[in-house]
Amino acid sequence: MKHIIKASLLTLAISASLNTHAAQFSFSSKVDNDAHTLIVFYSQDGKNNQFKNLDKQFNGQLQRIIDVENFEGKYAKTTQLIAPLNSNYKRILVVGTGKQNELNKARIAKLGGNVHAQLVKYKADTANVLFDDVTGVDANHLLAANFAHGANLRDHRFEKYKQTPSTQTVTYSFDVDSTKKTKATYKQLESIQAGVFLARDLTSEVATEMTPVDFANAAKDLESLGVTITVLKPEQLKELGMGALEAVGRGSDQGARLVVAHYKGSNDDPIALVGKGITFDSGGYSIKTGASIARMKSDMAGAAAVLGTVKAMAMAKADKNVVAVMGMAANMVSQFAVAPGDVVRTAEGLSVEILNTDAEGRLVLSDAMWYARKHFNPSIMIDVATLTGSKIRAVGNEYAAVFSKDDTLVNQLTLAGEQVNENLWRLPLGYKDMLKSDIADITNVGSGGPGATTAATFLEHFAGETRWVHIDIAGNALVKKGKGELSPGGTGYGVRLLSEWLLAN
Ligand code: BES
Ligand code: MG
Ligand code: ZN
Repeated sequence: MKHIIKASLLTLAISASLNTHAAQFSFSSKVDNDAHTLIVFYSQDGKNNQFKNLDKQFNGQLQRIIDVENFEGKYAKTTQLIAPLNSNYKRILVVGTGKQNELNKARIAKLGGNVHAQLVKYKADTANVLFDDVTGVDANHLLAANFAHGANLRDHRFEKYKQTPSTQTVTYSFDVDSTKKTKATYKQLESIQAGVFLARDLTSEVATEMTPVDFANAAKDLESLGVTITVLKPEQLKELGMGALEAVGRGSDQGARLVVAHYKGSNDDPIALVGKGITFDSGGYSIKTGASIARMKSDMAGAAAVLGTVKAMAMAKADKNVVAVMGMAANMVSQFAVAPGDVVRTAEGLSVEILNTDAEGRLVLSDAMWYARKHFNPSIMIDVATLTGSKIRAVGNEYAAVFSKDDTLVNQLTLAGEQVNENLWRLPLGYKDMLKSDIADITNVGSGGPGATTAATFLEHFAGETRWVHIDIAGNALVKKGKGELSPGGTGYGVRLLSEWLLAN
């Protein structure tokens, strides 16, 4: 009964959200001349009219810094003037935006994140941002909103276990040319932010406080947004024949859960987002060794990303029909856990010889993908999973790896990723022969062949005829240090990418 008490405590902890600070943003066509810091942009090749006007007000002091420092306005470089005593400002921060035609949403959001971190370090509690003259084109509202978005994403913190959580944050006033357009753009970004923050918090939470039951309870919070939540327990999974998902959950006392979150904002055929939700990956009897095991609370980041995306769509009231199907289990060792060499049957019918219990992600996904197809008949299915160490060796932890036969979808998703700093790199499917089993239809681990690819190829079988994309986010889910719009802890990787793709297509 222990876990029931824990679950209710957790709901409290999560909903008492971790934002004890929260940055504030307001947009108007004119700002008061009063803030700790004034931010002005300086482009490498633009007219910099706003900078020049300001320079006049400061009697040429700003231009003097630029000259003395040889400041060219290169992207993300900053320089500053400590404001004279008679000024309402304490500091004028000049921020380089690089070349005008290179500036886009992704670069400006990253810039917002980095500038925010600098302001926090300077203990600036208020900042005015002059955003009339950044590009000289009409997309300024898009850039202003994305700069704020980047700053807010960087501001997010997971500090519930700290004795004294930090309270330092910044209140921003933006001077923009189109208040209305900027506010509307920012409003949509706020929905996406809420999805990212949910995914980050779920990922950052420690494994004993984020079990499959805890995750299912967190998903239920979305019911208030009009999202339908269904949770299947181990007995139901068995009844439906979902032997692979059920087996992975068998090593922990709660067992596995299938969590389904459906936001029906249109009557189109649904788009299914399938997430790997391993709340802790010990490896099972094929146990992990070394320090890497301590990061395995984040092995549910795929599930967090797809749930976060559904939250974003629901909050934005997007006219999209999206369902997240999440295979949740803790991959633990116990007398009940799967033994290496066991054979399980998937709901789809294929039998799998589990040669390595650490290749558990593809097992939970196979049944989750089957369920998504069977119950929702989706037009497109995208799965997101922290699936393989091999993916990290291939493309590192800044790119995610994408696998699909569908060139159109790969191109659309890659383009969406470029808009939000969640970049994809395509790797091949194939090497199916490596998955042959002596006693079952297939094994869960390739005998040779590239690991990220054999894992993807295992999943391909369960996509059937559905248009399908697999995104391996191993290494993308958790960061130690803040950078750009990422703050330390869970990254929420995938929420911005999928939201951008859904809203653009
Ligand atoms: N969750 C891991 C993959 C992973 C590794 C994610 C490092 C994030 C960081 C996955 O379940 C796993 O253990 N994969 C094995 C598969 C192997 C046994 C075929 C791997 O990649 O080593
Ligand atoms: Mg594993
Ligand atoms: Zn795993």
